[in-house]
Amino acid sequence: MSVLNGKKVLLAVTAGIAAYKTASLVRLFIKLDAEVKVIMTPASKDFITPLTLSTLSKNPVHSAFYEEEENELWNNHVELGLWADLMIIAPATANTLAKMTNGVCDNLVLATYLSAKCPVYFAPAMDLDMYQHPSTKNSLNRLQEFGNVMIPATSGELASGLVGEGRMAEPEDIVSFIEKDILHKLPLKNKRILITAGPTHEAIDPVRFIGNHSSGKMGFELAKAAANLGGEVVLISGPSNQFVNHLSIKRVDIISAEEMFKECHKYYENSDIAILSAAVADYRPKKIASEKIKKKDSALTIELEPTKDILKSLGELKKNQILVGFALETNNEIENAKSKIESKNLDLIVLNSLRDSGAGFATDTNKVSILDSNLNCKEFDLKEKSKVASDIFNEIILKLYA
Ligand code: CTP
Repeated sequence: MSVLNGKKVLLAVTAGIAAYKTASLVRLFIKLDAEVKVIMTPASKDFITPLTLSTLSKNPVHSAFYEEEENELWNNHVELGLWADLMIIAPATANTLAKMTNGVCDNLVLATYLSAKCPVYFAPAMDLDMYQHPSTKNSLNRLQEFGNVMIPATSGELASGLVGEGRMAEPEDIVSFIEKDILHKLPLKNKRILITAGPTHEAIDPVRFIGNHSSGKMGFELAKAAANLGGEVVLISGPSNQFVNHLSIKRVDIISAEEMFKECHKYYENSDIAILSAAVADYRPKKIASEKIKKKDSALTIELEPTKDILKSLGELKKNQILVGFALETNNEIENAKSKIESKNLDLIVLNSLRDSGAGFATDTNKVSILDSNLNCKEFDLKEKSKVASDIFNEIILKLYA
């Protein structure tokens, strides 16, 4: 799967002959399952029509702050800039590059560029002498100093008939340049991450078990977040209806705490990060009946014995791994979480409190606090579990590169 899958791509087209190639560029992004919106400078519409680009991108294309034919609705450049995961200006003419360098803001593309908080790529396109001019070179250098990423022009036949450097990179090359750049900058690249998820089921007899209401959703969101950040993930999951399909996630299904223990120990030594979000049963029946237990009139007592504490056992073996535990508490939350950090040799603990509505098992949202080994505590708002997963990885990445 491409790193562009699901990414929100904002393509800004400016007035160069290479604008005709942006139709292919949009198609390539769409084929990789990116979401694409296109904005244009007014003059670029002489080179390719908004209709072509809106049809291919499946989104309206804007080139002005408001469109008369659309009842003068304002095209909000700030919203567009915030919407995008990445912005690409292609072709980027000498004129637009110079304006970007100097903060000129006289059209929708430039206003959006100035508002964008995401990574910005630009693919210059112009005639060879324009490309060599010191003024253009100055723009290219300054924009890279701003942190924008240049996709260099290539050599070849130019619209003027001259041959030289200045041709916009081909759409296929622009896409693969961006893919490589994103991959290269991913903070979990080359990192191996072990994640546990879901409940465990502890058999009583061939048809019954002791379990809990954990859906596995939090652990699966953590696995997706880790993979999207470039990590190689082993996801050890108890029985769960959650689904994941990512080339960088290896799913290992287990049923009992003992199986989870074995699988965790198999992968832990070679892991850089281990996050134990599973709701592991603390007790299991001492004996598993080999046949279905028959109903009787008298009370039934099942003797339970403790399961192995997987998190604690990994804490004892810890070398360079970052070890993250979860805690679900109903009272003395912070104090209990602090003592678990110490007793289990953790780097971070993610605390859910059952007192917070919308947090905990079988919900799509969670409200957590994250404590580190120096006992600093950060509290987060109630949010979707996918966003909680991002918050958790932000804290892990701070530790990783501290
Ligand atoms: N955990 C584990 N192995 C177990 C039980 C729990 O690895 N046998 C892990 C969970 O995945 C979680 C953490 O331990 O990351 C905390 O679980 P929690 O139930 O909150 O704490 P416990 O240590 O079991 O203590 P208590 O139930 O007494 O609060």
